[in-house]
Amino acid sequence: ALSPAGLDAEAFDGRAVLVVDVLRASTTVVTALQNGARAVIPVADKGEAGRLAATLDRDVSVLGGERGGEKLAGFALGNSPREYTEAAVAGKTVVLTTTNGTAALVRARGAARLAMGALVNAGASAAFLHRALDDGLDAVVLCAGWEGRVSLEDALCAGLLVDRLIDHPSAPPLNDGARIAHGLYRGARDDLARALFGADHTRRLVALGAGDDVALCARLDASDVLPVYRDNRLVADAA
Ligand code: MLT
Repeated sequence: ALSPAGLDAEAFDGRAVLVVDVLRASTTVVTALQNGARAVIPVADKGEAGRLAATLDRDVSVLGGERGGEKLAGFALGNSPREYTEAAVAGKTVVLTTTNGTAALVRARGAARLAMGALVNAGASAAFLHRALDDGLDAVVLCAGWEGRVSLEDALCAGLLVDRLIDHPSAPPLNDGARIAHGLYRGARDDLARALFGADHTRRLVALGAGDDVALCARLDASDVLPVYRDNRLVADAA
């Protein structure tokens, strides 16, 4: 699915869903778990995120999030992966709310299996989808996109995952979204980082002074961490 627009909860029933938000929520979650966060609780609504964080012990929790790419007032962290250092998150539970990524995840929470993927954990993400197909489940890559629209970076990542799955013996026929993503990826595979620099959201991040995050989010297979959703939170499942 190139964006969550028009998809209701039933679209995910009985399926394995991988939510992709390359710039930047998925990359941030992978980074937080890689740097020792115990869990990341994704929340769609910023008020709810603040209320939830207030019920948790401050020594072991941290509140992060953005709207439109900008850190939310009163939040300890924004949504830049570079903020989620070991010093900031090791041993802590992160409550995270973002414009599109956490909203897509919450929307798909009824899925049989749910995880987050990005370029930085593409191998672990492909393995998650492979396992689902091995187990006879339908696999869905859900691109978070931007406010209901398609975004280049998520479609490229989805296309890369299609490329790694296409020869699986139980791979289902590709839908149009998967074919479009795959074609896009094949045209850009020799320099994915360069392709990312042409994305709308890169321009937004550059305007916000967060352009350096793009190179960080473009590091293919930099981590083995797969954030899997269990009991309303994302935890690390090392591949
Ligand atoms: C989102 O969830 O829309 C993003 O990750 C936005 C951002 O870059 O902070």
